[in-house]
Amino acid sequence: MTSGVITRTLDTGIHLRVVPASEFGSAAADLVQTMLRRKPNAVIGFPTGSTPLPMYQDLLRRQRQGTLDLTQMRAVMLDDYLGATGDDPVSFHNWLKREFFDPAGVGSDRLLRMPTDPEGIEEACQQYEERLQRLGGVDLQLLGLGLNGHIGFNEPGAAVDSRTHVVPLTATTTVANAAYWDSSRKVPEEGVTMGVGTILGARAIGLLVNGARKADILRSTLLGPIGPDVPASFLRNVADVQVIADQEAAALLP
Ligand code: GLP
Repeated sequence: MTSGVITRTLDTGIHLRVVPASEFGSAAADLVQTMLRRKPNAVIGFPTGSTPLPMYQDLLRRQRQGTLDLTQMRAVMLDDYLGATGDDPVSFHNWLKREFFDPAGVGSDRLLRMPTDPEGIEEACQQYEERLQRLGGVDLQLLGLGLNGHIGFNEPGAAVDSRTHVVPLTATTTVANAAYWDSSRKVPEEGVTMGVGTILGARAIGLLVNGARKADILRSTLLGPIGPDVPASFLRNVADVQVIADQEAAALLP
């Protein structure tokens, strides 16, 4: 085991791996690589945000070195902004293409895009669920953690059995996400997200959490009450969940 790495199983069955910040990306990339070794055409759900960036860089490095085969992997999206269509700079689809899918050679034929066109969105959300089913469900869903405990765009109050749907975003989220692009584009006030129920339906889940600003919410997620006030706490209800945290994010865990 690498020095400074702590691996524990919490009483709810969640596996927690705490690593130095410099190893965060590689620890997260290990989840993807382990899944693809077992099932080369696995369906993997990918998040956006600043958290997974080191993982994407590590996956691309492994692919360049020839130690990771992404040629059969199928990808699905966790969330996006309502109205972020075409080449809108705020689109999570474009973000993922730029940071990972294009350099990794994952084409649109292997990517299920979250619907974002406001016209007919409710039907499109239902179709997204059906398409997930047709793919055979999600083998590994990777998640970041919002400052208010959201997963995807499931903000506090989210129902445990919710499916893909449109959500109004909280001020905490729009303020946090304003940092992703220049201020000339206003942060949209609604998102489209896999529901909590959709996420919990994945056969395995990896929650990625880094940085001191997430320490408080990671503690509530893992040790506070399970309920809609902290949607990520619902992860404690399902079987195969791995949390990868850097030491700063894990600082408030006993
Ligand atoms: C955003 C996204 C989530 C993301 C989370 C954390 O609002 N909707 O998918 O995982 O918040 O973002 P970050 O990693 O930048 O802290």
